[in-house]
Amino acid sequence: MSDKTTQPDQLPSTGQPSSTSASPVSSGAESNPEAKVAIEIKDFDAFYGDFQAIRNINLNIPEKTVTAFIGPSGCGKSTLLKWINRMNDIVPSAHAKGSIRIGDLQILDRQTDVVDLRRRIGMVFQKPNPFPKSIFDNVAFGPRLHFRIDRNDLAELVEWSLRKAAVWDEVKDRLHKSALGLSGGQQQRLCIARAIAAGPEILLMDEPCSALDPGSTSRVEDLIYELREQYAIVMVTHNMQQATRCSDRTAFFFKGEVVEEGPTEQLFTNPKEKKTEEYVTGKFG
Ligand SMILES: Nc1ncnc2c1ncn2[C@@H]1O[C@H](COP(=O)(O)OP(=O)(O)O)[C@@H](O)[C@H]1O
Ligand SMILES: [Mg+2]
Repeated sequence: MSDKTTQPDQLPSTGQPSSTSASPVSSGAESNPEAKVAIEIKDFDAFYGDFQAIRNINLNIPEKTVTAFIGPSGCGKSTLLKWINRMNDIVPSAHAKGSIRIGDLQILDRQTDVVDLRRRIGMVFQKPNPFPKSIFDNVAFGPRLHFRIDRNDLAELVEWSLRKAAVWDEVKDRLHKSALGLSGGQQQRLCIARAIAAGPEILLMDEPCSALDPGSTSRVEDLIYELREQYAIVMVTHNMQQATRCSDRTAFFFKGEVVEEGPTEQLFTNPKEKKTEEYVTGKFG
């Protein structure tokens, strides 16, 4: 797919999932029982050389839902996110087996167009990583790369994305100033605006608040919760209060496996597995 896609006229709808699978998520997101599967992970194993970092994960990530990944450090949460948008391509020792699908696209296929995949799956990291460019150019980066879009539409899309990421009012008078001059919390919301400007279906966030102060954390948490009306969101967090505040479903990872996945409230208050209970009650971590 080397041709640039032409941006549809209705800007805010560019991120709508177009080809998600028809089957409902087995156990059903509490907030949205009709949710379709956005990411289907089947019999997935991942390795770094001989070391197996992920073991036989089977997990459906529903659309329009926040799914939290929790679990102790080193249990494979980031590795799974990296495989979902093929960031492990640059790690020579990394290899994997099994299947990860969004709609009809088999992510692990060698032929998969990684540039287009990353348009469909936005990624937000622990440390905000705006480009050393203006605020405007950060948000315009994805649309310029992926779409033929004229200046007026681009300006409209940049504004729409910044509003959607709840940072417009704070940056609208300095759009052409460097993004690096923003506070950490503003930079993180800018990075979210940059991700959504490209029209993704899915947002992956790896500990998106852990480098932020409490005030910025709460703004980003509110934003994540609102964005789930449109996107499938996966959020890794070490903070269990954060998982309960802003996720609908939670998957508990331990030593490379998903021990349990379910509605967040149920997983925290009435877990099925002993190991989950020990973790959520702070017996280890
Ligand atoms: N690039 C890499 N090379 C080798 N081992 C790695 C690499 N990245 C992660 N790992 C190992 O894979 C395991 C899972 O790591 P990670 O996915 O980062 O865990 P988490 O995000 O849950 O803390 C850990 O044992 C980690 O040391
Ligand atoms: Mg991690």
